[in-house]
Amino acid sequence: MSRILITSAIPYINGIKHLGNLVGSQLPADLFARYMRARGNEVMFICATDEHGTPAELAAAKAGKPVDEFCAEMHKVQADIAQGFRLSFDHFGRSSSPQNQKLTQYFAGKLAENGFIKEVVEEQVYSPTDGRFLPDRYIEGTCPNCGYDSARGDQCDNCTKQLNPTDLINPYSTESGATDLEVRETKHLHLRQSALKDELDAWINSKTDWPVLTTSIAKKWLHDGDGLQDRGITRDLKWGVPVKKGTEDWPGMEGKVFYVWFDAPIEYIAATKELTDARGEDDTAWQSWWREDKGAKDVTYYQFMGKDNVPFHTLSFPATIKGANQNSDEKWKLVDYIKSFNYLNYDGGQFSTSRGRGVFMDQALEILPSDYWRWWLLSHAPESSDSEFTWENFQADVNKDLADVLGNFVSRITKFCRSKFGEEVPAGGIYGEAEQSLIAELTKRIRAYETHMQAMEVRKSASELRAIWVAGNEYLQSAAPWSTFKTDPEAAAAQVRIALNLIRLYAVLSAPFIPDASSSLMEAMKTGDTSWPDDVEAALNALPAGHAFSVPEVLFAKISDENREEWQERFAGVRD
Ligand code: MF3
Ligand code: ZN
Repeated sequence: MSRILITSAIPYINGIKHLGNLVGSQLPADLFARYMRARGNEVMFICATDEHGTPAELAAAKAGKPVDEFCAEMHKVQADIAQGFRLSFDHFGRSSSPQNQKLTQYFAGKLAENGFIKEVVEEQVYSPTDGRFLPDRYIEGTCPNCGYDSARGDQCDNCTKQLNPTDLINPYSTESGATDLEVRETKHLHLRQSALKDELDAWINSKTDWPVLTTSIAKKWLHDGDGLQDRGITRDLKWGVPVKKGTEDWPGMEGKVFYVWFDAPIEYIAATKELTDARGEDDTAWQSWWREDKGAKDVTYYQFMGKDNVPFHTLSFPATIKGANQNSDEKWKLVDYIKSFNYLNYDGGQFSTSRGRGVFMDQALEILPSDYWRWWLLSHAPESSDSEFTWENFQADVNKDLADVLGNFVSRITKFCRSKFGEEVPAGGIYGEAEQSLIAELTKRIRAYETHMQAMEVRKSASELRAIWVAGNEYLQSAAPWSTFKTDPEAAAAQVRIALNLIRLYAVLSAPFIPDASSSLMEAMKTGDTSWPDDVEAALNALPAGHAFSVPEVLFAKISDENREEWQERFAGVRD
């Protein structure tokens, strides 16, 4: 048994995420968390809402609500949707929590103490038309790196380069469209990432087992151009974590807050404390996950995120951790493995939050139960390249895999057994050659499934699981207990017994992908035995002769052409 810490990139508070976001972080993180728990590990799975920054302020203003009230409401909305998708977070925190405020200020103090903070008088873009300093993401212009004409002031979405607003060519305010932007002076704190460059470089180079997508993005920003730049970590905003050096005021920084990207990853840690505080545990509880000097040496830490989040998690957040650890007895935990994803496209274009294009998490749950989405999204996870959602493909694959293969197997064998043997596992006969060869094939496939799941190879895991379902169907098809029964009822009993046991086995193996269907199967088989099939033969004898079961309701209804056309049309435009 190991201790496994898992975090998913924390979604911004100001809107509901689309399916592309879901499959790029929270969903695969959940898959992994469920699998790790099923294998008997101690798991801490953390997510939260990312509540600071101007987008939250503006969204609150638009909703006519004070920003704290808006965030509290939206947190509840997002928590409910996460629950709807069965995301099994141990805690879904809030980056605006008092715990995060304190911890963020603490890290800033440590970094200052260790010489990694530089105070700089900065030039910042002021918009007379908007009457304020413009936050980075509300300035757009042409990317100096790739020439993309709608690069944001914090990052170019086209080439992923982290930017400063003053880098942009022909900048304008996205709020008012104003182009009469002025540059004014204001004092800010910079994190001296450049001073940690060699350390970060060596660290990334040591991660030879990380996905290339992760390391290539990190290496690009370590080595391209002038290399790793220092980053401003404060902003002239009201909503956020007030700038302090630990618990002390920071002269010259009055009225300023930390940059949302500085406090957001710290929330991974703070959320763990939110959880253990709520449980009434003391600080050793959360520290045992996050501080190697306090028991976290045996923890393996995995992060999940879309590729746009990779620079912050491979460079900026590790710089915070490494900077805090230097010359200190405190050994905060660095990530051990970063699983990153490409983008999922939508029906010939891109999912877009700002343009409301695609299917959003709340809408998805309005039309189908979460397992349909979980299965399709995970089995098409954009791992080695971008992938695409189309309604035709969604309909075809869900109908085939879930209804024709898995659902049909379950309904066929339970109904047959009920009609010939009654609603209990039949006695008689033995597992013969065909059954032994099924056991051998399943053993091979289940070992492969374990390897892929352990390696977070999401698509490969899904294919192997599908093959495991198919193997059962093929066995049933060739054993044909309905024919065997006519000449050799004993042999038919053994065939039915192994098939009924397969249902429990499928429930256990499939639970990380389709937890609700798995629960229904466990219920139908009237068992709570979720033990992992280390020994497949034993697993296929887990439900003994005489064990009662019931025929489950239809597991997965097929998506009809009418459904598909209706949804296709409903989601063709943009959401308002
Ligand atoms: N809120 C960001 C997004 O939705 C992700 C933040 S991840 C964290 O893209 F590390 F900062 F927490
Ligand atoms: Zn660019």
